[in-house]
Amino acid sequence: MSTIAPANQAPIDSSRPVREPCTDPACGCGKRSLPANARAGSSQREQRTLKITVLRFNPHEPGSRPHLQTFALEEADGMTLYMALNEIRETQDPSLQFDFVCRAGICGSCAMLVNGRPALACRELTQKLDTVITLAPLPVFELIGDLSVNTGKWMRGMSERLQTWVHAQEAQVDLRRLEARMDPELADQIYELDRCIECGCCVSACGTARMREDFVGAVALNKIARFRLDPRDTRSDEDFYELVGDDDGVFGCMTLLGCHDVCPKQLPLATQIAFIRRKMVALGWK
Ligand code: SF4
Ligand code: SF4
Ligand code: FES
Repeated sequence: MSTIAPANQAPIDSSRPVREPCTDPACGCGKRSLPANARAGSSQREQRTLKITVLRFNPHEPGSRPHLQTFALEEADGMTLYMALNEIRETQDPSLQFDFVCRAGICGSCAMLVNGRPALACRELTQKLDTVITLAPLPVFELIGDLSVNTGKWMRGMSERLQTWVHAQEAQVDLRRLEARMDPELADQIYELDRCIECGCCVSACGTARMREDFVGAVALNKIARFRLDPRDTRSDEDFYELVGDDDGVFGCMTLLGCHDVCPKQLPLATQIAFIRRKMVALGWK
């Protein structure tokens, strides 16, 4: 049986003194820690200066050219890349663009290339990285500016194209009806695939998506697997074949599994892509 991820948000501890900064690396609340030398016992940890190089470009600003800019800042206890970027924006360059909403690995907005690998900035602890860090926007998606990309536009296009919602029979749609019971094990399996936060990391790590503009990506194949599992969805495998049974769908996938390696929610993308491909191949042979 699949495992369910633990809640991403640490519970509020009412016993914590008001002025005490959050030092829980799993919390991601973004509340700044004190500099290491201001904390008791911190002398055991080496104080580091981070050098963060950002690929900067604002396509909406006339005359803007892509260039690298390096910022130096003191590392703090429990610092994430999101916190570092926030500090840079507050103290060094207010024009720096990057996205965030939840600061807890839930909304998917802060995805970017960290040393060339797609990751969520709010979940990357600087202490796990070298002092020299390079950041760039996710490829494939439309660039808004600096580290900010329009994943929402891409995800919406994919969702409309593949109709990623439950297709219930019209006669079954009655909002006053009691919700139909579902086997808990099946509900767990659906929930496991539903944990996708549409961050776009898998699409940016995908060689096919970077070569073929219309490739649906692992995020979409995972959604097809999710709706195929759902007993409320009346679509058949023939219907799903119409959506992903070609080179822009599951047959365009090169199975190098970059998507699986970088998914910050550890979704079982390799298994789902292989499963959907087997089902679609079986239909193609009929
Ligand atoms: S499948 Fe994983 S990497 Fe891809 S969008 Fe969903 S959460 Fe992000
Ligand atoms: S396995 Fe397929 S979907 Fe995943 S990164 Fe490779 S080509 Fe893209
Ligand atoms: S800010 Fe929401 S996932 Fe990072």
